Amino acid sequence: MSKLFDLTGKTAVAIGGNSVLGSSIAHGLAEHGAKVAIVGRNMEKAEEVVKAIVDNGGVAKAFQANVSERESLLQVATDIEAWSGGWDILLNAPGKNSSTPFLELEMDEYDDIMDVNLKGIIQACQIFAQKNIEQQRSGSIINISSVSSTTPLSRVFTYSVSKAALNSATQYLAKEFALHNIRVNALIPGFFPAEQNRKILNPDRIESIMKHTPMQRFGTPEELQGAAIWLASEQASSFVTGALIRVDGGFGSMTI
Ligand SMILES: NC(=O)c1ccc[n+]([C@@H]2O[C@H](COP(=O)([O-])OP(=O)(O)OC[C@H]3O[C@@H](n4cnc5c(N)ncnc54)[C@H](O)[C@@H]3O)[C@@H](O)[C@H]2O)c1
Repeated sequence: MSKLFDLTGKTAVAIGGNSVLGSSIAHGLAEHGAKVAIVGRNMEKAEEVVKAIVDNGGVAKAFQANVSERESLLQVATDIEAWSGGWDILLNAPGKNSSTPFLELEMDEYDDIMDVNLKGIIQACQIFAQKNIEQQRSGSIINISSVSSTTPLSRVFTYSVSKAALNSATQYLAKEFALHNIRVNALIPGFFPAEQNRKILNPDRIESIMKHTPMQRFGTPEELQGAAIWLASEQASSFVTGALIRVDGGFGSMTI
């Protein structure tokens, strides 16, 4: 069983690995033996995650990148290749959100969110996949979607549109890369509240979420690790690609 989920010798690139959810997944991958590149826009936070992984006996290094800028992604892919020779697992966790009402939405804000949540991730997939295709190296890409990607949540228009498109991109790329042995899947997390999304979660919204969550609680970031390690492992999920995996306490399977 331990061999099935053993990531020893693998390199994981965690873009947005300094985020609340991304850092938890990065910890899980490191605990299962992967060497992890923590890629963040904010180096201070990325270094903190690296320190925690290393203190826990893992191997990690921080890299800086802004996913909205192609040059920045190209540079980080080259730097990571120089560090570890390439990648085996690519976690795409950067994300932006806003609760601006639709009729007040300005296109600069729309572009800003789409640039990170969709274009940034698509560019990362393109740049990193290209490297593995050239090296004839397999890979597992894990995109972080959201419950708002299937049936949209109220109050988060652009976010919902970006995550719906990310699901589609995940499935498209699964087909595109299948014969190159690069699997592409997405995790659909439910609600994992922390400082970053407290603004959006007011008491009414929390009540409404609980009414629609069969398990009647929020998730904790550690609860994403199992699904991510499974998708990362070439042995455990060898025939899984194009899958959208819910980790949401049942939220997505409940109407009224
Ligand atoms: N927390 C939840 O309940 C929840 C639920 C579903 C999905 N998600 C998704 O999980 C992912 C992580 O979110 P989180 O909740 O941990 O929040 P977070 O605020 O901690 O993470 C967002 C991350 O995106 C990074 N980022 C933003 N713009 C960037 C850019 N231009 N270049 C590089 N990085 C950039 C930030 O630096 C940060 O690390 C996001 O994709 C989010 O949409 C979160």
